[in-house]
Amino acid sequence: MAKLGFPFTLGVASGEPSADGVILWTRLAVEPLHGSKPGGMPNQVFSVKWELAEDAEFTRVIQSGTAPAQPDWAHSVHVRVSGLRAWTEYFYRFSVDGHTSPVGRTKTAPGPDSTEPIKVAVVSCQRYEHGFFTVLKHVAEERPDVVFHLGDYVYEYGKPANPQPGRYIRPLEATEECKTLAAYRRRYARYQLDKDLQAAHAAAPWITMPDDHEVRDNYAGLLPGDGSSQSAFLKRRNAAYKAYYEHLPLRVRPVGNNLQFYRWRPYGKVADFMFVDARQYRKGKDMLGVEQQEWLTARLRASTARWKVIAQALFFAPRKFPLEPPSTDAWDGFPDSRAKVLAAATGDLVVLSGDVHNAWAGEFGGGVEFVTSSVTSRPPATDGTAMLALNPHLKFFDGRRGYLVVTAGMSDFTVDYRAVEFVDQPGAPVVTAAGFRVVDSKLQRTDL
Ligand SMILES: [Fe+2]
Repeated sequence: MAKLGFPFTLGVASGEPSADGVILWTRLAVEPLHGSKPGGMPNQVFSVKWELAEDAEFTRVIQSGTAPAQPDWAHSVHVRVSGLRAWTEYFYRFSVDGHTSPVGRTKTAPGPDSTEPIKVAVVSCQRYEHGFFTVLKHVAEERPDVVFHLGDYVYEYGKPANPQPGRYIRPLEATEECKTLAAYRRRYARYQLDKDLQAAHAAAPWITMPDDHEVRDNYAGLLPGDGSSQSAFLKRRNAAYKAYYEHLPLRVRPVGNNLQFYRWRPYGKVADFMFVDARQYRKGKDMLGVEQQEWLTARLRASTARWKVIAQALFFAPRKFPLEPPSTDAWDGFPDSRAKVLAAATGDLVVLSGDVHNAWAGEFGGGVEFVTSSVTSRPPATDGTAMLALNPHLKFFDGRRGYLVVTAGMSDFTVDYRAVEFVDQPGAPVVTAAGFRVVDSKLQRTDL
């Protein structure tokens, strides 16, 4: 057999840390954008070696093994590592056929009794065409303990026939919207060729929750929103979520019509992070579906952590708009579901969200919300000043691209809003736009 070309073109990643383990990920792709063969790979299984070490030079390798890269799963590799020490930094790499991957850094979660403070970077909405992933480069430089990606990891749109000058920064090859497994796979490959995205994955473990664009704009449950049939849409959604799994360090493989994304990750006595899927189970005015709602209610009630944190895509606090009608796609369109979440929460509730492509901070009865801006996705024409005047419970708006740095400890929960001035060229420096502390379910500025 001919020697394989360099197959680690999409980088490496880790995710879903527990106190004793983590998922390691890579995907073999010698020609990531190949038109017919996924990743340009031969149609055969490869045995990929993985190594986990205590140091970045791999002088102290503590675990190693092999994992299959199968054509049916686009030659992706998911390794469940266990038996690790809690709250410890590790380094990992893969090798196959004489090639060695870049090195990734990961970190396990703290043990159940830990009171160590946690540093989380929160991002959402990275539309490739809209600019450079400078935000992710800065996220990598933060060396957070964990990264949360709250949706719109890819966008399904095709390249428009006549892109508006200056608004289409990095062209896609595809002119068609993604609808098939092959198209979604190529879209992930296109994104993951980006060096800043690779750097952010290699810097820390990620926990991800898709929103709508991983499948289709504003889809709700089994309603595609474009007039296509439910069965055609289900097929498309399964293809989209299979590709999502193939390209991210997830614990759970899709089975049949379901890829369960809702889950929680405990971080010692400090925080319980609950990841909520606000898309897949929607039905009528029910945002979460019966099972997920029951799970979340039980999880919130059982939580004894200092901070109960719900991480999900959509704006949670109520909003009035100066001109437009209220958003029916976000939680304002699902008031009963929101009320159930609030009724189940005991003590300080913190919601982390994204989706709107601008940064916000706000209070709602019983908790606070921190909304991360987009990595690149262009914002709507929002008049932040008018919105703040009309919504006194909203305390902060920033219209630049950016991310959140959350630091959670036993006494303090603080959030810094990082921002970049531009993404139409690489190299924008990062600034801190604002800082907040949570005090009795209210926001307090830390930077004024
Ligand atoms: Fe988005």
